[in-house]
Amino acid sequence: MNSIPYGKQYIDQSDIKAVVETLLSTNLTQGPKIKEFEEAFAKYIGAKYAVAVSNGTAALHISALALNVKSGQKVITTPITFVASANCIRYCGADIVFADINPETFLLDINKVRKLLDASPKGTFSGIIPVDFAGKAINMEAFRKLADEYGLWIIEDSCHSPGGYFTDSNGVKQNCGNGNFADLAIFSFHPVKHIACGEGGMVTTNDESLYKKLLKLRSHGIVKEEGDYLNSFELANSFENNGDLVNYPDWYMEMQELGYNYRLTDFQSALGLSQLKRAEAGIKRRKEIAYRYDLAFNNHPFIKSQLNEIKLVDSGHAYHLYVIEVENRLKLFNYLRTNNIIVQIHYIPAHLMPYYKNLNWEYGDLPNSESYYSKCLSLPIYPTLSDEEQEFVINLINQFYNG
Ligand SMILES: Cc1ncc(COP(=O)(O)O)c(C=O)c1O
Repeated sequence: MNSIPYGKQYIDQSDIKAVVETLLSTNLTQGPKIKEFEEAFAKYIGAKYAVAVSNGTAALHISALALNVKSGQKVITTPITFVASANCIRYCGADIVFADINPETFLLDINKVRKLLDASPKGTFSGIIPVDFAGKAINMEAFRKLADEYGLWIIEDSCHSPGGYFTDSNGVKQNCGNGNFADLAIFSFHPVKHIACGEGGMVTTNDESLYKKLLKLRSHGIVKEEGDYLNSFELANSFENNGDLVNYPDWYMEMQELGYNYRLTDFQSALGLSQLKRAEAGIKRRKEIAYRYDLAFNNHPFIKSQLNEIKLVDSGHAYHLYVIEVENRLKLFNYLRTNNIIVQIHYIPAHLMPYYKNLNWEYGDLPNSESYYSKCLSLPIYPTLSDEEQEFVINLINQFYNG
């Protein structure tokens, strides 16, 4: 049997056709596919605006910049995430404060966040970055309520959960990143994610002024719309011999602040658009796989999965990852890897990374996250994983524990 990774992209002929068509078109970048992808993605998520960028980390960075994150501020996030969720705040010179996870959901614990907020004078913290870890939608309605009490912004890190949702207090399904609660939400199109662009990212929002800021920040801080110019028309006109310009000349543009080149290309957008058409089918297959794991490991003496329950009803989990907590993790990890099953660990808690330890975080600070890390293991889950391959994984795990 070929090796079975924990996650992988699914590229078909329609993806290849879409990319080749764009490669043969006039625009490799800054062409029409970017806007098409943004509009289709915003519609899929249910947000008003979407801004495509070069990767999820860039999405986090310009989100933090758009919210004016700067030195002297403090922002709260979970340590059980990819380090980029925290790093974006450090890029802007502000401080990250990690709050512990809920041991049942593996998500940022809102009670721990409230405790942190209550323990400091109002104004100490500027924002929160909750993460829909593994694809499980965090309750953004509850976080919005808390954030409003303390005057905080929210960036929802939805890299694991395009197509995921939670059910709000009125019984309404709320898609991850739909902008109804968070100020901004971000996504990644890395190949192991639901939608693959090679590299790629997206920011979604319902706020028009943030949307305009994001557009500027992703492309050098440049604007090209006449109504947005800051220099006077007289200045533009004064450079012409006759001084008789009627409008700003066609070449005119303004760099108004320090932005970046975080643009996504047209051929990546074409791939994203094509992948987006299969996003729902992909989630459906991920849910089937998760359900089979749930059945196999329910009431298992050595294995606990997220919430440890059989999800007979659709829980809104997007299943980027299927994570279990296990006894004897290192031995099981090595056993599965020896048998060509490339399981993975998500994540080493961010506060234990040497970079954050140098900022005074240490082992013992976040016991739930540390305990989770000592047991977690991500099993293979991706749309093209076959039933036979999954059976092989389940049998090997059972063999490991039953001898
Ligand atoms: C939760 C989370 N946030 C942010 C990122 C960063 O995305 P990217 O790799 O596209 O920069 C990732 C990607 O691994 C992620 O999993």
